[in-house]
Amino acid sequence: MRKNIVAGNWKMNKTIDEGVQLVQEIKKLLSEKSNLSTQVIINPPFTHLSTLKKEISNSAIKIGAQNCSYESSGAYTGEVSVSMLKSIEIDYVIIGHSERRAYFNETDELLLKKLNLVLESGLLPIFCCGEVLSQRDSGIHFEVVRQQIENTVFKLSADKFNKVIIAYEPVWAIGTGRTATSQQAQEMHKYIRNIITEKFGASLASEISILYGGSCNAQNAKELFANPDVDGGLIGGASLKATDFVQIVSSF
Ligand code: PGA
Repeated sequence: MRKNIVAGNWKMNKTIDEGVQLVQEIKKLLSEKSNLSTQVIINPPFTHLSTLKKEISNSAIKIGAQNCSYESSGAYTGEVSVSMLKSIEIDYVIIGHSERRAYFNETDELLLKKLNLVLESGLLPIFCCGEVLSQRDSGIHFEVVRQQIENTVFKLSADKFNKVIIAYEPVWAIGTGRTATSQQAQEMHKYIRNIITEKFGASLASEISILYGGSCNAQNAKELFANPDVDGGLIGGASLKATDFVQIVSSF
C-alpha cells in the first residue's frame, strides 16, 4: 500500500554503541512529535540488526538490511542469506543500491534473483534505480531508469511487484551535496509511475511508494516531498544525525 516512507541508509557507518545511541535519540525525538503518519525505517549494517531490532521493539520504527545474498544458502563465504534476515524478523532489504552496482558489480540479473528471494520470504524490498551523471548529461536518464526497471522489478508478477518500494536515486546526487531539483525528482517519479501504469495498470501504479534519494536533507526534504509522485526518501548522510533524520521524517 502506498505510504509516505523515510528510510535511513546508514551504509558502513556507526559502531554498535553509536548505533544504539542514534536509535535512542531518534526514538526520543519521534516521541515528541504528534500525528506522524510516515513509516520510518532504519537500515543499519548487518552486525547491528539483532540489537537494534530489540531497541525499536516498543516503537513504530521498522528495520531493514542494506543487502542480501543472491543465493539462498551454502558455500558463499561472507554472504548473508535472506532466510537469516528473516530469522531475526527484520522487515525490509535494500536491493540494487548504486554503490552495490558500482563497487560490487551487481547486475540487473543478479538483482532480480535477490528480489525474488526477498519477496518469497515475505520481506519487502526497497529497490534502487538511477542514472549516472554522464547519462543525465546526454539526456538518456529516462531510458536508463526504464531499462533498470524493466530488467528487474517488471519481471516480477503483479502480486510480487505490489510489495516493492522503489527508490529513485540519481547517482550524481548521492553523497555529493548536489540534490536533484524538486522538478527533476518529480518528472522522473512521474515517469516511473507512468511506466508502471503501462505495465501493471493505473490502480497498482497508484499503490507503489516511490522514494527519492541523493543528498536529501533537513533543508530540502519538504520541497522534494511536496511533489505528488514523491512518497518520501532514502536518506544516507543525513540519516546519521538524529535531529536531521527526524526533521526529514516530519517534512510531509
Ligand atoms: P545521501 O545517500 O543521502 O548521502 O546522498 C543516499 C543513498 O545513497 O541512499
